[in-house]
Amino acid sequence: MPLKNQDQEQNRSRINRRVFLKTMGVGTMSVCLEQHLARASNTIKSGREVPAGKKIPIDLIVNQNKHHLLVEARWSLLFVLRDKLGLTGSKQGCGRGECGACTVLINSIPRYACLTLAVEAQGMQIETVEGLMDGEDLGPVQQAFLDEDAFQCGYCTPGQVVAAEGLLRKVEDPDAETLRLSMSGNLCRCGAYVHIEKAVKKAAQTRSGR
Ligand code: FES
Ligand code: FES
Repeated sequence: MPLKNQDQEQNRSRINRRVFLKTMGVGTMSVCLEQHLARASNTIKSGREVPAGKKIPIDLIVNQNKHHLLVEARWSLLFVLRDKLGLTGSKQGCGRGECGACTVLINSIPRYACLTLAVEAQGMQIETVEGLMDGEDLGPVQQAFLDEDAFQCGYCTPGQVVAAEGLLRKVEDPDAETLRLSMSGNLCRCGAYVHIEKAVKKAAQTRSGR
C-alpha cells in the first residue's frame, strides 16, 4: 500500500477507535445507571422483592393533596406526576439527572424527579411548580422570574423556579456564590442565567419584605 494511503488508513482507524471508545463510555454509564435504577426499583423500602410489572399501592402527598395510586416499582416520580396526576409543570429534559428541568421539592429540598422513584417519595411532602402559586396569583419566585424576564423558551423555568424556592427556604439572603452554586444543577439552554440570577435576588427581597 502506498505510504500516503497507509497514513490515511491509520488515521481513520485511530478516529474510529476514539469515537468507539467515547461512545462505549457514555453507553456503559447509561447502562449502569439503568441497571442500578432497575435493581433499586425492584426492592422497595421493606427490602421485599416486587416482580417486574406488578403494581403496588402507595400514597403520595403532592402540593398538600394526598393521592392513593397503584404504581410499578420502576416508575419515576416524574412519570407519576406528569402522566398519572396530570401535573405537567415539571418537565422531562434529559431524563437522567443532568438538566434539572424536572426539579421538585421533597421535604423542601430540591430533587430531580426523573431520578427519584415514586415509591421512594412515599410519606414525604412533594411540591411541584404548581404548588408554589399564591392562591390564584403567582408566588413570589414565579413573579420575580416574570418581572426580571428570566426565561426565553421557558422549558427550564419550572425547574429553575423550584430550585430557587428550595434555596430561599434554606438561605434567606444568599450571596452570589451560594446562589450560583445552589442553582448550578439547573441548566438553561437559552442561556438566561444573568436574568435568572436577578430574579432569584429579587424573590429573596420580596420574601423578606425588603
Ligand atoms: S429531566 Fe431530570 S435532570 Fe433532566
Ligand atoms: S429559558 Fe429556554 S431553556 Fe431556559
